Amino acid sequence: MPTGYVARDDPEKKVLEILEREKSVGIVSSQGIHGPGGVGKTYLAQAVAWKMRGKMEVVFVEVGTNPNMLSIMNSSFYPYLENGTKGNFTELEDVWIWLSKITKKKKVLIVLDDVWSEKTTIQILWQMREALSDGSQLLYTTRTKDLLLKVKATPYELGVVPEAERWDFFVNCAALNLEDEQVKANTEQIGKAIIENTDGLPIILDNYAQHLKQGTEGVSFQDLLNQIKDEVTGSEQWLERSFHALKPSTNFIDCDVLSLPKSNDLNRVQQLFLCLGVFKDDERFRSSVLETIYKLSDEINASEEDIKKIVHEDLNILANHSLIKFIHEQNGDLTYTMHDIVREYALKKGEQTFRYKESGRCFGHRL
Ligand SMILES: Nc1ncnc2c1ncn2[C@@H]1O[C@H](COP(=O)(O)OP(=O)(O)OP(=O)(O)O)[C@@H](O)[C@H]1O
Ligand SMILES: [Mg+2]
Repeated sequence: MPTGYVARDDPEKKVLEILEREKSVGIVSSQGIHGPGGVGKTYLAQAVAWKMRGKMEVVFVEVGTNPNMLSIMNSSFYPYLENGTKGNFTELEDVWIWLSKITKKKKVLIVLDDVWSEKTTIQILWQMREALSDGSQLLYTTRTKDLLLKVKATPYELGVVPEAERWDFFVNCAALNLEDEQVKANTEQIGKAIIENTDGLPIILDNYAQHLKQGTEGVSFQDLLNQIKDEVTGSEQWLERSFHALKPSTNFIDCDVLSLPKSNDLNRVQQLFLCLGVFKDDERFRSSVLETIYKLSDEINASEEDIKKIVHEDLNILANHSLIKFIHEQNGDLTYTMHDIVREYALKKGEQTFRYKESGRCFGHRL
């Protein structure tokens, strides 16, 4: 199950129902969940995959943009069905022959998460479908319904959390114990404001819920209230507000992270946030890489130790805003992840602000 998953009964029931129905028919069936970024497609697919596990073999594959399918099949697909050993296919053709054989022996549900409507991807998905033996199933998640029509999958549109369910969803995300009078007094007002002023997009509700969970340690309730005092509709607006709310907590060194034109007037944490756009999709990133980017910038004369302090402190601020998630630390190197819509925002805004594509300075190419 995804971390902090809050069941959304209706969508879960509908997707499971279709899978069960198709399973009983016995042919290869495919369906897809579509909806905007941050609406909970991956979470839903993971929950559904989890529930189907006892009934058939389930393989969960993260596809993403421009996927290297051969590498995905060798490293994440094959090991699932062949006791953890990595595949060494050199041609997709051989993968399909193997897949056809193995699905004759066992029924498999293949979840293809985050598929984009690219010509080569669609071709490969067709080949995969053709290779499957009867009784196996495909479940896609994608932002575009168009892709589902192209691969002839039954579309299921996942929407935002309906108004009547928002409060419960939010309370569960924040794991609030409303029986406790103190918790109730502290959180009800702000919780209600959040519900009223957001449009029910799960990523936004969960983000604010995580703020609340952290209490006043990270971002103060007042700051949070200020951020959401006017309606927030959609992830773009939410990210824009979160971006404007970022500020460094101490100022032991006054520096620009990158050689920005002064008129940009971004503070240190905002600059660091925009740097995150250079990391590749769906990958973890490490604080040491950011430290290297800082060191490469000829505008910074701080010592290595100071750079490390700045990077750690500012990453912590981003984590307190739930824009990135801390994973682990190893020898002073911190590993984080971020959601793809957060990265996409950082990339888009970074390109507008830094023009790093054109300038080639510090990051002429994506890391
Ligand atoms: N059922 C849920 N319970 C708790 N949190 C959820 C749920 N669904 C979504 N979220 C929150 O919303 C975020 C986005 O969800 P998810 O990654 O599933 O979106 P998505 O629709 O797959 O987006 P994308 O199109 O960018 O891949 C999650 O990281 C989580 O914080
Ligand atoms: Mg997703």
